[in-house]
Amino acid sequence: MTDASALERARADFLEEVTRASSDADLRALRDRYLGRKSGIVTSLMKAVAAAPVEDRPRLGRLANQLKQDVEATLAERGEALAGAPPRRPGVDVTLPGREAWLGGRHPLSSTRERIESIFLRMGYEVIEGPELEDDYHNFEALNMPPDHPARDMQDTLYLAAPVTSPSHTATVLRTHTSGMQIRYMETHEPPVRIISPGRVYRRDNLDLTHTPMFMQFEGLVVGEGVTLADLKGTLAAFAREMFGADTAVRFRPSFFPYTEPSAELDISCVRCHGRGCAVCKRTGWLEILGSGMVHPAVFEAVGYDTERYTGFAFGMGVERVAMLKYGVEDIRQFYEGDLRFLEQFPA
Ligand code: DAH
Repeated sequence: MTDASALERARADFLEEVTRASSDADLRALRDRYLGRKSGIVTSLMKAVAAAPVEDRPRLGRLANQLKQDVEATLAERGEALAGAPPRRPGVDVTLPGREAWLGGRHPLSSTRERIESIFLRMGYEVIEGPELEDDYHNFEALNMPPDHPARDMQDTLYLAAPVTSPSHTATVLRTHTSGMQIRYMETHEPPVRIISPGRVYRRDNLDLTHTPMFMQFEGLVVGEGVTLADLKGTLAAFAREMFGADTAVRFRPSFFPYTEPSAELDISCVRCHGRGCAVCKRTGWLEILGSGMVHPAVFEAVGYDTERYTGFAFGMGVERVAMLKYGVEDIRQFYEGDLRFLEQFPA
């Protein structure tokens, strides 16, 4: 029996099937299935209209005719669309725009290191590098830390099981800081000196939020006639403003390092709260970023500089610490885990 709902069902089925047709052959099969002369679904429904009660026939007849016309129109439309569209393979829509390829980027430690270098290069400094395998003399002794000096315990040193000899020197430690580069440079150069020396350093520390057994430092050294504490202060304040923003305030706190006298640590106003006090600066408003001081005469003596004629200043900072403050990273280990979800967040 034909009634309006049978016609609607046939229409719904057809509309569903036609969306899956992806070739002329599919459309031909569909036409046959719905409009075939003998047993097409629509054809049969139209035939059945004749058997409906006489008072329903005109209405059902109209509906059936409409369905037939719609099916024909849709098949024709779909045929045209297929003729114009590129061939379709299952699961691939070749008309979609391509996915943008990720090009990779600078590691945040590399970009921080480059940023620090460029600031000092613009101030006229030279960048030098030196060995990570170091001897006791350059890492400690010439920096006014003779054997048994208690300051050697300020850093937990990784010693080599057997000394490593190269044409240039005999190494016994993994350098604990870049300060040895002050000695190496002064041994082979006369003043004036204006250098920075970036590189990896090593300490026997366990991994935690702020420690890794290998990290990166920057050493700075300036030597000349008439170099004063004011030069140190002005230079580092200018660096801090370049690195962390023009509104960054700095303060010096007295400290101790065997190779500088006087020694000072530099604090910058908190990058998060700008001095008001927050969790990042432990409510102090200040963050420690580097150690510094006026070069100790004993260091000049070790390299044969005239201590009456020359004065100088030196400083050392951790690159990870600078990057953590700059980017708001709370766990130093993330720099070394190679997790792309972390690394992708940094500007290229
Ligand atoms: N070597 C020190 C450290 O590893 C940093 C440092 C402090 C370097 C004072 C210096 C300096 O040149 O003058 O923590």
